[in-house]
Amino acid sequence: MARFEGEMLGRAERLASLYPDPRSAIIPLCHLAQEQDGYVTEEAIAHIGELVGATGAEVQGTASFYDMLKFEPVGKYVIGVCTNISCMLRGGYELLDAASNTLGVPPGETTADGIFTLEEVECVAHCDKAPAVQINYRYFGPVDSDAFAELVGQLKSGELDEQVPEHGTLIRVLRDAPPPIPLEEIDAERARQDAEREARAASREV
Ligand code: FES
Repeated sequence: MARFEGEMLGRAERLASLYPDPRSAIIPLCHLAQEQDGYVTEEAIAHIGELVGATGAEVQGTASFYDMLKFEPVGKYVIGVCTNISCMLRGGYELLDAASNTLGVPPGETTADGIFTLEEVECVAHCDKAPAVQINYRYFGPVDSDAFAELVGQLKSGELDEQVPEHGTLIRVLRDAPPPIPLEEIDAERARQDAEREARAASREV
């Protein structure tokens, strides 16, 4: 699966409808694609372009600024070990080495079973718990080599399933309230902006 279908297509169309300019939904839609497939596939990029009126290159060009969006397959768990100043002073590099030994892969790579991707990351704003680790953007710390090995064991056994969903899932509670501004008003605003754009373009041609 790569294009949005069924329930995911409904969520994608709703996301696109929430913004006066549907292109503003590119990043949320990329996260939705990542929730669906674990990373943002080429097919999803093309589909997002169709949904918001952009080319695939425009979608890719926007999304590629964001580290949280992956364009190649990654592990079920993406583990980030921080080596920025606070974490470095409290053993961040030693932890990164230990993580690499525990997982059997260097930073930037995925284990052969596709379960773990290890990353070295900059400050993730968990400095008071240095050295800090993020697993699918959930925080852990302070973590030493033993605690890291224990975390890996807990992830493998499913003990942390409640706390850490598979890579791509940012939230598990979806908003079901209507948008704060009625969709008709958003459509009217879009029409007004389109008319203004056309008027500006016409005045430039004169
Ligand atoms: S320096 Fe590691 S979380 Fe801030």
